Amino acid sequence: MTEPAIPFVRLEGVTKLHGQLTAVDNLSLTLARGEFFALLGPSGCGKTSLLRLIAGFEAPDSGRIFIDGADMTETPAHKRPVNMMFQTYALFPHMNVARNIGFGLVQEGMPKPEIKRRVAEMLRLVQLEGLGERRPDQLSGGQKQRVALARALAKRPKLLLLDEPLAALDRRLREETQFELLHLQKSFGVTFLVVTHDQREAMVMASRIAVMRTGRIEQIGAPAEIYEKPNSTYVARFIGEINIFEGKVAAARDNFLSVSTAAGVIEVASDVAHALGHAVVVAVRPERILVTLSDLTEASPSPVNALAGEIEEKAYLGEATLYRIRLACGLVLRAAAQNAEPGARAFEPGDKVAAGFAPEAAIVLSS
Ligand SMILES: Nc1ncnc2c1ncn2[C@@H]1O[C@H](COP(=O)(O)OP(=O)(O)OP(=O)(O)O)[C@@H](O)[C@H]1O
Ligand SMILES: [Mg+2]
Repeated sequence: MTEPAIPFVRLEGVTKLHGQLTAVDNLSLTLARGEFFALLGPSGCGKTSLLRLIAGFEAPDSGRIFIDGADMTETPAHKRPVNMMFQTYALFPHMNVARNIGFGLVQEGMPKPEIKRRVAEMLRLVQLEGLGERRPDQLSGGQKQRVALARALAKRPKLLLLDEPLAALDRRLREETQFELLHLQKSFGVTFLVVTHDQREAMVMASRIAVMRTGRIEQIGAPAEIYEKPNSTYVARFIGEINIFEGKVAAARDNFLSVSTAAGVIEVASDVAHALGHAVVVAVRPERILVTLSDLTEASPSPVNALAGEIEEKAYLGEATLYRIRLACGLVLRAAAQNAEPGARAFEPGDKVAAGFAPEAAIVLSS
């Protein structure tokens, strides 16, 4: 899953400097043809810079960029089989929506009736039928974004770079559009490279995700791989919520470690050997924590790791209830209980509880 057999896009040691600042740092990456790839990372980590290099709006200071087997490092943007949808939309203010969407097709010399047909198809796709005559300043933010998306797709490029394509949409439209984008990408066979801030969005759409950190890629993998086997605390924290315990290896046997932490000794499953005394981080997702009342009298098998604490806050989210649990050591844990069964036990602030999790539910990371 890590490297496609026949790369469609290949970046080799690409670096981009802005004065003193290294926006993209010796980055190598391959995308397979027809892949839906997502780039995730905090603001300023170099996502837009990377897209601009692939599109050809900027030249790298070093490294090479191959697309569809050809070295495109020196090729100008308009000669690359690539289109980009910008974070800021960059619509032409004096043109109506239909002309914005058809702009690239006119440039290409496509016959008028075909342009009309293609524009109508795109308007339907982004649910803007009937708005073709409007100017961009007569549209809402979300509508502008959809025009930009339609314009980027109209030319059916081999590679489409999308910079935060859905950021301005409301939640419902955003989720709908995620599935539409997926469908579109599959039916056109276009390779998509999408930048997003939203890890859920990346997980819904992408077959592979790269998590970036200061110009480099920290980890690449399928969504489940990144979520369940993050290779660093940075990735673990960036993808979803996670509880972190810092500690030292106190005992190791077979595939288990005992890690001594401020919250007590935590037993974790680990197939990686760690030396005694080695500093490690134990990470546990909130949904893997089972909350029980600590004065429970009936005999129930207590999990290996059961940390005593008190419910500090509770948030009912419909499908799940989130708890903040303050442990005796002062650490605050987050636990998420699914509300799948009506009438399931809910805890209230002040309840004395045990936060339990299995050794297999914890991830061991080097600190
Ligand atoms: N033209 C430029 N001149 C100088 N610095 C720049 C330029 N473009 C980007 N940078 C810097 O390069 C770094 C990476 O910027 P980039 O726009 O790629 O980040 P990003 O990951 O897209 O962030 P965001 O999520 O906020 O859009 C930032 O520190 C930014 O300030
Ligand atoms: Mg950006």
